[in-house]
Amino acid sequence: MARCSVCGAPAVAYIRYQRRYLCRDHYLEFVESKVERAIMRHRLVGKGDRVLAAVSGGKDSSTLLAVLSRLSRRIGFHVVALYIHLGIYEYSEKSREASIRLASQLDVPLIVFDLNEVLGAGIPELAKASKRPPCSVCGMVKRYVINAAAVELGVDAVALGHNADDIAVYNLKSFLNQDLEAISKLGVKTESIPGVAVGRVRPLYYVYEKESFLYSLLAGLPFLHEECPFVERRQMEVELKETVNQLEDKRPGLKLQMVSKLAKRVEDYPKPKGSIGRCPSCGLLSSGGECSFCRVTRRALGRPMGPVVREWFRRRAQELGLGASWRSSLS
Ligand code: AMP
Ligand code: FES
Ligand code: ZN
Ligand code: ZN
Repeated sequence: MARCSVCGAPAVAYIRYQRRYLCRDHYLEFVESKVERAIMRHRLVGKGDRVLAAVSGGKDSSTLLAVLSRLSRRIGFHVVALYIHLGIYEYSEKSREASIRLASQLDVPLIVFDLNEVLGAGIPELAKASKRPPCSVCGMVKRYVINAAAVELGVDAVALGHNADDIAVYNLKSFLNQDLEAISKLGVKTESIPGVAVGRVRPLYYVYEKESFLYSLLAGLPFLHEECPFVERRQMEVELKETVNQLEDKRPGLKLQMVSKLAKRVEDYPKPKGSIGRCPSCGLLSSGGECSFCRVTRRALGRPMGPVVREWFRRRAQELGLGASWRSSLS
Protein backbone atom coordinates (compact mmCIF):
# COMPACT_ATOMS: atom_id res chain seq x y z
CA MET A 1 0.00 0.00 0.00
CA ALA A 2 1.24 3.47 -0.89
CA ARG A 3 2.19 5.60 2.07
CA CYS A 4 1.97 9.37 2.63
CA SER A 5 5.26 11.01 1.62
CA VAL A 6 4.96 13.33 4.63
CA CYS A 7 3.90 11.13 7.56
CA GLY A 8 3.86 7.51 6.35
CA ALA A 9 0.12 6.98 6.96
CA PRO A 10 -1.89 5.17 4.24
CA ALA A 11 -2.10 7.42 1.17
CA VAL A 12 -5.39 8.50 -0.44
CA ALA A 13 -3.98 10.61 -3.28
CA TYR A 14 -1.04 10.74 -5.63
CA ILE A 15 0.03 14.20 -6.85
CA ARG A 16 1.68 13.28 -10.14
CA TYR A 17 3.33 16.61 -10.83
CA GLN A 18 4.99 16.51 -7.41
CA ARG A 19 5.50 12.71 -7.35
CA ARG A 20 4.07 12.66 -3.83
CA TYR A 21 1.59 10.40 -2.09
CA LEU A 22 -0.56 12.05 0.56
CA CYS A 23 -2.79 10.81 3.38
CA ARG A 24 -6.17 12.45 3.99
CA ASP A 25 -4.93 15.09 6.40
CA HIS A 26 -1.90 16.02 4.34
CA TYR A 27 -4.02 16.10 1.20
CA LEU A 28 -6.42 18.62 2.79
CA GLU A 29 -3.41 20.64 3.95
CA PHE A 30 -1.92 20.48 0.44
CA VAL A 31 -5.03 22.06 -1.14
CA GLU A 32 -5.36 24.63 1.64
CA SER A 33 -1.74 25.70 1.33
CA LYS A 34 -2.13 26.05 -2.44
CA VAL A 35 -5.01 28.47 -1.84
CA GLU A 36 -3.14 30.25 0.93
CA ARG A 37 -0.12 30.77 -1.34
CA ALA A 38 -2.37 32.17 -4.09
CA ILE A 39 -3.94 34.55 -1.57
CA MET A 40 -0.54 35.72 -0.33
CA ARG A 41 1.23 35.88 -3.70
CA HIS A 42 -1.51 37.90 -5.37
CA ARG A 43 -2.73 39.74 -2.26
CA LEU A 44 -6.26 38.46 -2.87
CA VAL A 45 -7.48 39.01 0.67
CA GLY A 46 -5.82 40.74 3.61
CA LYS A 47 -6.22 40.80 7.38
CA GLY A 48 -9.54 42.38 8.43
CA ASP A 49 -11.00 42.18 4.91
CA ARG A 50 -14.62 41.21 4.27
CA VAL A 51 -15.12 38.59 1.56
CA LEU A 52 -18.33 37.52 -0.14
CA ALA A 53 -17.98 33.91 -1.35
CA ALA A 54 -20.39 33.10 -4.21
CA VAL A 55 -21.53 29.49 -3.84
CA SER A 56 -23.51 27.45 -6.36
CA GLY A 57 -23.91 24.20 -4.41
CA GLY A 58 -21.31 22.41 -6.59
CA LYS A 59 -17.95 20.91 -5.64
CA ASP A 60 -15.79 23.94 -6.43
CA SER A 61 -17.91 26.29 -4.35
CA SER A 62 -17.90 23.85 -1.45
CA THR A 63 -14.10 23.59 -1.57
CA LEU A 64 -13.89 27.38 -1.92
CA LEU A 65 -16.06 28.07 1.12
CA ALA A 66 -14.45 25.40 3.28
CA VAL A 67 -10.89 26.52 2.54
CA LEU A 68 -11.74 30.22 2.90
CA SER A 69 -13.47 29.59 6.19
CA ARG A 70 -10.38 27.76 7.52
CA LEU A 71 -7.98 30.40 6.21
CA SER A 72 -10.17 33.24 7.50
CA ARG A 73 -9.33 32.16 11.02
CA ARG A 74 -5.63 31.80 10.27
CA ILE A 75 -5.23 35.03 8.26
CA GLY A 76 -7.92 37.05 10.04
CA PHE A 77 -10.51 37.98 7.43
CA HIS A 78 -14.32 37.60 7.42
CA VAL A 79 -16.41 35.46 5.09
CA VAL A 80 -20.08 35.57 4.23
CA ALA A 81 -21.59 33.32 1.54
CA LEU A 82 -24.15 34.13 -1.15
CA TYR A 83 -26.31 31.58 -2.96
CA ILE A 84 -28.54 32.72 -5.85
CA HIS A 85 -31.64 30.60 -6.40
CA LEU A 86 -32.01 30.82 -10.17
CA GLY A 87 -35.45 29.20 -10.40
CA ILE A 88 -34.15 26.29 -12.49
CA TYR A 89 -36.67 23.73 -11.24
CA GLU A 90 -35.39 20.79 -9.17
CA TYR A 91 -31.76 21.63 -9.86
CA SER A 92 -32.08 24.94 -8.01
CA GLU A 93 -33.96 23.32 -5.11
CA LYS A 94 -31.23 20.73 -4.65
CA SER A 95 -28.36 23.18 -4.99
CA ARG A 96 -30.01 25.49 -2.45
CA GLU A 97 -30.25 22.59 0.01
CA ALA A 98 -26.57 21.73 -0.57
CA SER A 99 -25.51 25.36 -0.05
CA ILE A 100 -27.55 25.71 3.16
CA ARG A 101 -26.11 22.48 4.57
CA LEU A 102 -22.58 23.52 3.57
CA ALA A 103 -22.79 26.95 5.20
CA SER A 104 -24.31 25.55 8.37
CA GLN A 105 -21.66 22.79 8.59
CA LEU A 106 -18.92 25.39 8.22
CA ASP A 107 -20.73 27.92 10.43
CA VAL A 108 -20.50 30.66 7.78
CA PRO A 109 -23.38 33.19 7.42
CA LEU A 110 -25.27 32.54 4.19
CA ILE A 111 -27.55 34.86 2.21
CA VAL A 112 -30.01 33.14 -0.13
CA PHE A 113 -31.24 35.37 -2.93
CA ASP A 114 -34.26 33.92 -4.73
CA LEU A 115 -34.87 35.33 -8.22
CA ASN A 116 -38.52 34.22 -8.29
CA GLU A 117 -39.19 35.77 -4.93
CA VAL A 118 -37.54 39.13 -5.67
CA LEU A 119 -38.17 39.55 -9.41
CA GLY A 120 -41.16 37.29 -9.89
CA ALA A 121 -39.22 35.43 -12.60
CA GLY A 122 -36.38 32.92 -12.78
CA ILE A 123 -33.83 32.17 -15.52
CA PRO A 124 -36.26 30.15 -17.72
CA GLU A 125 -38.75 33.05 -17.82
CA LEU A 126 -36.08 35.73 -18.33
CA ALA A 127 -34.47 33.70 -21.13
CA LYS A 128 -37.79 33.17 -22.87
CA ALA A 129 -38.86 36.80 -22.63
CA SER A 130 -35.49 38.14 -23.79
CA LYS A 131 -35.11 35.49 -26.51
CA ARG A 132 -31.60 34.67 -25.34
CA PRO A 133 -30.11 31.27 -24.45
CA PRO A 134 -30.63 30.47 -20.73
CA CYS A 135 -26.89 30.09 -20.03
CA SER A 136 -26.06 33.52 -21.39
CA VAL A 137 -28.86 35.23 -19.43
CA CYS A 138 -27.88 33.21 -16.37
CA GLY A 139 -24.21 34.24 -16.54
CA MET A 140 -25.19 37.90 -16.83
CA VAL A 141 -27.77 37.69 -14.00
CA LYS A 142 -25.31 35.95 -11.67
CA ARG A 143 -22.58 38.53 -12.34
CA TYR A 144 -25.06 41.35 -11.69
CA VAL A 145 -26.58 39.93 -8.50
CA ILE A 146 -23.18 38.98 -7.04
CA ASN A 147 -21.83 42.48 -7.70
CA ALA A 148 -24.97 44.21 -6.37
CA ALA A 149 -24.75 42.11 -3.21
CA ALA A 150 -21.05 42.92 -2.79
CA VAL A 151 -21.63 46.67 -3.20
CA GLU A 152 -24.55 46.76 -0.76
CA LEU A 153 -22.88 44.54 1.83
CA GLY A 154 -19.78 46.72 1.65
CA VAL A 155 -17.35 43.82 1.15
CA ASP A 156 -13.75 44.20 -0.01
CA ALA A 157 -13.81 41.29 -2.48
CA VAL A 158 -15.99 38.65 -4.11
CA ALA A 159 -14.54 35.11 -4.21
CA LEU A 160 -15.49 32.87 -7.15
CA GLY A 161 -14.94 29.13 -7.51
CA HIS A 162 -13.17 28.92 -10.90
CA ASN A 163 -10.47 26.24 -10.82
CA ALA A 164 -7.27 25.76 -12.87
CA ASP A 165 -9.03 23.56 -15.45
CA ASP A 166 -11.70 26.23 -16.06
CA ILE A 167 -9.03 28.87 -16.58
CA ALA A 168 -6.88 26.63 -18.83
CA VAL A 169 -9.81 25.71 -21.08
CA TYR A 170 -11.16 29.32 -21.37
CA ASN A 171 -7.63 30.47 -22.09
CA LEU A 172 -7.12 27.98 -24.93
CA LYS A 173 -10.56 28.59 -26.34
CA SER A 174 -10.07 32.35 -26.35
CA PHE A 175 -6.62 31.93 -27.89
CA LEU A 176 -7.98 29.74 -30.70
CA ASN A 177 -10.63 32.38 -31.39
CA GLN A 178 -7.96 35.07 -31.05
CA ASP A 179 -10.28 36.74 -28.54
CA LEU A 180 -7.43 38.36 -26.63
CA GLU A 181 -9.79 40.60 -24.68
CA ALA A 182 -11.42 37.50 -23.23
CA ILE A 183 -7.98 36.31 -22.07
CA SER A 184 -7.49 39.64 -20.28
CA LYS A 185 -10.39 38.64 -17.97
CA LEU A 186 -8.76 35.37 -16.88
CA GLY A 187 -6.47 36.75 -14.19
CA VAL A 188 -6.46 35.80 -10.51
CA LYS A 189 -8.24 39.02 -9.57
CA THR A 190 -9.93 42.16 -10.84
CA GLU A 191 -9.74 45.50 -9.08
CA SER A 192 -12.71 47.26 -7.46
CA ILE A 193 -14.21 50.42 -8.93
CA PRO A 194 -15.49 52.35 -5.89
CA GLY A 195 -19.28 52.46 -5.59
CA VAL A 196 -19.80 50.65 -8.91
CA ALA A 197 -18.11 47.25 -8.85
CA VAL A 198 -16.35 45.12 -6.26
CA GLY A 199 -13.16 43.29 -7.28
CA ARG A 200 -13.36 39.53 -7.85
CA VAL A 201 -10.78 36.99 -6.72
CA ARG A 202 -10.26 33.36 -7.75
CA PRO A 203 -8.64 31.58 -4.81
CA LEU A 204 -8.85 28.14 -6.57
CA TYR A 205 -6.85 29.40 -9.57
CA TYR A 206 -4.06 26.86 -9.03
CA VAL A 207 -6.31 24.00 -7.83
CA TYR A 208 -7.13 21.32 -10.40
CA GLU A 209 -10.76 20.28 -10.87
CA LYS A 210 -9.88 16.76 -9.70
CA GLU A 211 -8.18 18.17 -6.61
CA SER A 212 -11.20 20.28 -5.74
CA PHE A 213 -13.49 17.27 -6.15
CA LEU A 214 -11.30 15.08 -3.91
CA TYR A 215 -11.07 17.86 -1.31
CA SER A 216 -14.88 18.10 -1.10
CA LEU A 217 -15.14 14.32 -0.71
CA LEU A 218 -12.37 13.91 1.86
CA ALA A 219 -13.51 16.92 3.90
CA GLY A 220 -17.06 15.48 3.97
CA LEU A 221 -18.60 18.61 2.44
CA PRO A 222 -22.17 18.62 1.14
CA PHE A 223 -22.32 19.35 -2.59
CA LEU A 224 -24.57 18.63 -5.54
CA HIS A 225 -23.18 16.17 -8.09
CA GLU A 226 -25.64 17.08 -10.84
CA GLU A 227 -25.09 19.70 -13.48
CA CYS A 228 -27.55 22.39 -14.44
CA PRO A 229 -30.06 21.01 -17.02
CA PHE A 230 -29.43 24.04 -19.26
CA VAL A 231 -25.69 23.58 -19.42
CA GLU A 232 -24.72 23.86 -23.05
CA ARG A 233 -22.27 21.18 -23.99
CA ARG A 234 -20.24 23.34 -26.29
CA GLN A 235 -18.35 20.81 -28.40
CA MET A 236 -15.21 22.88 -28.59
CA GLU A 237 -14.98 23.24 -24.79
CA VAL A 238 -15.51 19.52 -24.28
CA GLU A 239 -12.76 18.69 -26.79
CA LEU A 240 -10.37 21.25 -25.35
CA LYS A 241 -10.93 19.83 -21.89
CA GLU A 242 -10.08 16.35 -23.14
CA THR A 243 -7.02 17.65 -24.97
CA VAL A 244 -5.73 19.52 -21.94
CA ASN A 245 -6.19 16.39 -19.83
CA GLN A 246 -4.35 14.23 -22.38
CA LEU A 247 -1.46 16.70 -22.42
CA GLU A 248 -1.46 16.74 -18.61
CA ASP A 249 -1.25 12.92 -18.62
CA LYS A 250 1.90 13.07 -20.73
CA ARG A 251 3.36 16.11 -19.02
CA PRO A 252 2.19 16.23 -15.39
CA GLY A 253 1.96 19.83 -14.19
CA LEU A 254 1.21 21.31 -17.61
CA LYS A 255 -2.07 22.92 -16.51
CA LEU A 256 -0.37 24.43 -13.50
CA GLN A 257 2.38 25.89 -15.69
CA MET A 258 -0.20 27.29 -18.07
CA VAL A 259 -2.23 29.09 -15.42
CA SER A 260 0.91 30.29 -13.60
CA LYS A 261 2.26 31.85 -16.78
CA LEU A 262 -1.12 33.33 -17.59
CA ALA A 263 -1.35 34.91 -14.13
CA LYS A 264 1.95 36.69 -14.80
CA ARG A 265 1.15 37.82 -18.35
CA VAL A 266 -2.56 38.62 -18.13
CA GLU A 267 -1.96 42.37 -17.85
CA ASP A 268 -0.31 42.33 -21.30
CA TYR A 269 -3.55 41.35 -23.04
CA PRO A 270 -5.78 44.12 -24.43
CA LYS A 271 -8.70 45.07 -22.18
CA PRO A 272 -12.21 45.17 -23.67
CA LYS A 273 -12.90 48.49 -25.36
CA GLY A 274 -15.76 50.69 -24.26
CA SER A 275 -15.94 53.06 -21.38
CA ILE A 276 -16.59 52.11 -17.80
CA GLY A 277 -19.72 53.93 -16.74
CA ARG A 278 -22.73 53.80 -14.47
CA CYS A 279 -26.08 52.38 -15.47
CA PRO A 280 -28.61 55.28 -15.46
CA SER A 281 -31.26 52.96 -13.95
CA CYS A 282 -29.35 51.22 -11.14
CA GLY A 283 -26.07 53.12 -10.79
CA LEU A 284 -23.86 50.02 -11.05
CA LEU A 285 -21.25 49.13 -13.66
CA SER A 286 -22.18 49.50 -17.31
CA SER A 287 -20.13 49.62 -20.50
CA GLY A 288 -22.35 52.36 -21.89
CA GLY A 289 -26.04 53.14 -21.37
CA GLU A 290 -28.29 50.91 -19.30
CA CYS A 291 -26.60 47.76 -17.95
CA SER A 292 -27.56 44.36 -19.40
CA PHE A 293 -29.45 43.34 -16.26
CA CYS A 294 -31.67 46.43 -16.30
CA ARG A 295 -32.17 46.08 -20.07
CA VAL A 296 -33.16 42.40 -19.93
CA THR A 297 -35.46 42.83 -16.93
CA ARG A 298 -37.04 45.93 -18.51
CA ARG A 299 -37.84 43.88 -21.62
CA ALA A 300 -39.02 40.81 -19.72
CA LEU A 301 -40.78 42.37 -16.74
CA GLY A 302 -41.69 45.88 -17.85
CA ARG A 303 -39.20 47.77 -15.66
CA PRO A 304 -35.47 47.68 -14.86
CA MET A 305 -35.00 45.57 -11.75
CA GLY A 306 -31.46 46.63 -10.76
CA PRO A 307 -32.74 49.09 -8.11
CA VAL A 308 -35.04 46.38 -6.65
CA VAL A 309 -32.11 43.96 -6.30
CA ARG A 310 -29.94 46.62 -4.69
CA GLU A 311 -32.71 47.56 -2.25
CA TRP A 312 -33.21 43.88 -1.33
CA PHE A 313 -29.55 43.50 -0.38
CA ARG A 314 -29.52 46.84 1.43
CA ARG A 315 -32.36 45.64 3.65
CA ARG A 316 -30.79 42.21 4.12
CA ALA A 317 -27.52 43.84 5.16
CA GLN A 318 -29.34 45.88 7.79
CA GLU A 319 -31.32 42.89 9.11
CA LEU A 320 -28.15 40.83 9.40
CA GLY A 321 -26.16 43.64 10.96
CA LEU A 322 -23.79 43.50 8.01
CA GLY A 323 -23.27 46.60 5.85
CA ALA A 324 -20.94 49.11 7.41
CA SER A 325 -20.95 47.53 10.85
CA TRP A 326 -20.41 43.87 10.09
CA ARG A 327 -16.70 43.98 10.64
CA SER A 328 -17.27 44.44 14.36
CA SER A 329 -20.30 42.16 14.52
CA LEU A 330 -18.38 39.19 13.12
CA SER A 331 -15.17 39.60 15.00
P1 AMP B 1 -20.23 29.54 -13.47
O1 AMP B 1 -20.65 30.86 -13.98
O2 AMP B 1 -21.35 28.56 -13.33
O3 AMP B 1 -19.02 29.01 -14.14
O4 AMP B 1 -19.78 29.80 -11.98
C1 AMP B 1 -18.68 30.58 -11.67
C2 AMP B 1 -18.71 30.94 -10.21
O5 AMP B 1 -19.86 31.75 -9.95
C3 AMP B 1 -18.84 29.75 -9.27
O6 AMP B 1 -17.62 29.15 -9.00
C4 AMP B 1 -19.45 30.39 -8.05
O7 AMP B 1 -18.44 31.06 -7.30
C5 AMP B 1 -20.36 31.45 -8.67
N1 AMP B 1 -21.75 30.92 -8.82
C6 AMP B 1 -22.22 30.08 -9.77
N2 AMP B 1 -23.54 29.81 -9.58
C7 AMP B 1 -23.91 30.52 -8.48
C8 AMP B 1 -25.15 30.67 -7.74
N3 AMP B 1 -26.27 30.03 -8.11
N4 AMP B 1 -25.15 31.47 -6.66
C9 AMP B 1 -24.03 32.13 -6.27
N5 AMP B 1 -22.85 32.01 -6.92
C10 AMP B 1 -22.78 31.23 -7.99
FE1 FES C 1 -27.10 29.06 -15.20
FE2 FES C 1 -27.37 26.64 -15.80
S1 FES C 1 -26.52 27.46 -13.97
S2 FES C 1 -28.12 28.24 -16.94
ZN1 ZN D 1 0.34 12.25 5.89
ZN1 ZN E 1 -28.59 48.68 -14.25
